[in-house]
Amino acid sequence: MAHNIAVIGGDGIGPDVTAEAIKVVLAAGVDVATTDFDLGGSRYLRDGEILSDDTLDQLREFDSILLGAVGHPDVAPGVIERGLLLKMRFDLDLYINQRPFVGTAPGGDTPHDFVVVRENTEGPYVGEGGSLRTGTPQEVATQGSFNTRFGVERCIRYAFDLAQRRDRKHLTLVHKTNVLQFAGGLWERTFNEVAAEYPDVSTAYNHVDAACIYFVQDPHRYDVVVTDNLFGDILTDLGGAVSGGIGLASSANLDPTRTSPSMFEPVHGSAPDIAGQNLANPTAAILSAALMLDFLGEADAAERIRAACVEPVTGSTTDVGDAIAARVRN
Ligand code: IPM
Ligand code: MN
Repeated sequence: MAHNIAVIGGDGIGPDVTAEAIKVVLAAGVDVATTDFDLGGSRYLRDGEILSDDTLDQLREFDSILLGAVGHPDVAPGVIERGLLLKMRFDLDLYINQRPFVGTAPGGDTPHDFVVVRENTEGPYVGEGGSLRTGTPQEVATQGSFNTRFGVERCIRYAFDLAQRRDRKHLTLVHKTNVLQFAGGLWERTFNEVAAEYPDVSTAYNHVDAACIYFVQDPHRYDVVVTDNLFGDILTDLGGAVSGGIGLASSANLDPTRTSPSMFEPVHGSAPDIAGQNLANPTAAILSAALMLDFLGEADAAERIRAACVEPVTGSTTDVGDAIAARVRN
């Protein structure tokens, strides 16, 4: 049976990189049926649709969603991010954002291999807060970080399960418990309680500022990292930068309960400055499609795609896609 994939190419380079990703999936011999959804900033400018509840209900019927990138220079920041990307993460309850980092840090000589598990439905992303006297010298703005025991625990449990399946079986909690004592306390207590159920997984804790140093200077210490939504957002850009660049960084937005389709997307944005020029590197989208295949039970094809991406390819978007597709076929 074919896997039914909803493809949201999105804006800028998004549609070009998802086209290459699907090309490579087909080259790997996986039976997929794709349906394109025209969503993103360009669509919004055309007829005002960002992501209606109707469209969201259509998306729920698919086995997974592959997203290119959203963001348009003529649309104010936040509109598409909140209305499309975050709406999918929240309404489909994609509570895990998993981002693998395999590469060699600049100046380093040995490759590292670690995964960041970012909580994807809480923290400051919830949008709690507001502003008063906006735009005046007396403006007051608050933006709270929302952390529930339920949300934190399911994320931490997922990270322990993942660490247990990996060779090193090591999990690091990253937070800022020395300052954010309420949210940090909840994360730390939950982490320690769940850890007791995983005696075979060794653990560590780093403050997020220290983790920024280690990501650059000693990434080998990490196997699986678990952290909150905002720390995870920032740390995973750094993870990309020390692992061959953001053009290689892939991500999975997962509903591990499989109630909703999970969503797979490169970490990079829509890069409007190079859109339509066949210049974008599609590797991050191709590696995101490999994560999708892992989740769809196509581990062998996923592994072959990752192997085909190890040796860098240069050239246009389509050149890179064609070369990786050819390697996967052989
Ligand atoms: C990411 C992006 C998003 C985020 C933006 C586009 C809302 O930066 O996926 O990392 O902050 O999560
Ligand atoms: Mn980000």
